[in-house]
Amino acid sequence: MATATGICFLRTSLFQTFSFTSKPHSVTLFDNKVHSFHLRAANIEGSEIEGKEEVSISEKKRIFVAGATGSTGKRIVEQLLAKGFAVKAGVLDIDKAKSILSGPNPDLQIVKADVTEGSARLADAIGNDSDAVICATGFRRSLDFLAPWKVDNFGTVNLVEACRTLGVKRFILISSILVNGAEMGQLFNPAYVFLNVLGLTLVAKLQAEQYIRRSGINYTIVRPGGLRNDPPQGNIVMEQEDTLYEGSISRDQVAEVAVEALLHPESHYKVVEIVARTDAPKRSFEELFGSIKQH
Ligand SMILES: NC(=O)c1ccc[n+]([C@@H]2O[C@H](COP(=O)([O-])OP(=O)(O)OC[C@H]3O[C@@H](n4cnc5c(N)ncnc54)[C@H](OP(=O)(O)O)[C@@H]3O)[C@@H](O)[C@H]2O)c1
Repeated sequence: MATATGICFLRTSLFQTFSFTSKPHSVTLFDNKVHSFHLRAANIEGSEIEGKEEVSISEKKRIFVAGATGSTGKRIVEQLLAKGFAVKAGVLDIDKAKSILSGPNPDLQIVKADVTEGSARLADAIGNDSDAVICATGFRRSLDFLAPWKVDNFGTVNLVEACRTLGVKRFILISSILVNGAEMGQLFNPAYVFLNVLGLTLVAKLQAEQYIRRSGINYTIVRPGGLRNDPPQGNIVMEQEDTLYEGSISRDQVAEVAVEALLHPESHYKVVEIVARTDAPKRSFEELFGSIKQH
């Protein structure tokens, strides 16, 4: 257990080296929320409501979130609901999910979904009514040295396969900066070294990313810097893949980027690296995603 605790400390603290002053990020005004969602939801590839300005509640886009009880996953669920999406929360523990996720909500469904249990079971969990999948899983700390490989690589691959089976065309992955550290000259970056010593975590994530990119699915891979639980401090900086090797960002902003990716076609088939900086200018998501090249 002591080892696991040490692993936990290293896994989180190595990234968390920068602090910023508080500045909340943009929010959607409640009065405009539903109308705004209707118009913007048409941007999701394969939308059945393209061109329509009014849809009923039952036609809300439904997003499956894997790892929905996680520190980032729960924020993604909250933000999706706030922006007018319906959510299917994929979790390991239903009771835990009920205590973590916002109370009874007709737009929130909680389903059991262990990404290591194979694509067929995941396809059952995702179901025929999900329009997109957001993956916010991360291996549970344990003494299982293979856990990162099982969850962060094969688990994500299973999710993509489930999407292919079901015809779900949109996939958002929360990955990490430095996954390709070896290629970008960061082989000896302490974060790269330690995270890989702890079960080849970053290598596992990179393998999953490569699988997604070969799969043909419309992806947005979001690679955040060190994750912080405190509210946003500074504006989002978004860079090309294999660019950022330090910095941190609030999980609220990571969730926001994942949700906004669903609303902006500029994010399609892209890998984006994100941190927050107090000296960065505030940019719209069109600008941020639009500044990233497709590969
Ligand atoms: N920590 C950092 O500084 C940092 C930096 C960059 C990127 N990242 C990455 O960002 C992502 C989100 O990080 P986080 O700290 O928000 O994650 P987190 O709080 O550790 O949440 C991970 C989620 O994955 C779930 N999970 C674990 N094994 C699973 C399985 N077999 N099947 C389905 N779900 C499973 C966990 O379920 P339970 O809730 O039941 O445990 C949890 O909900 C992770 O991929 C992480 O590696 C982290």
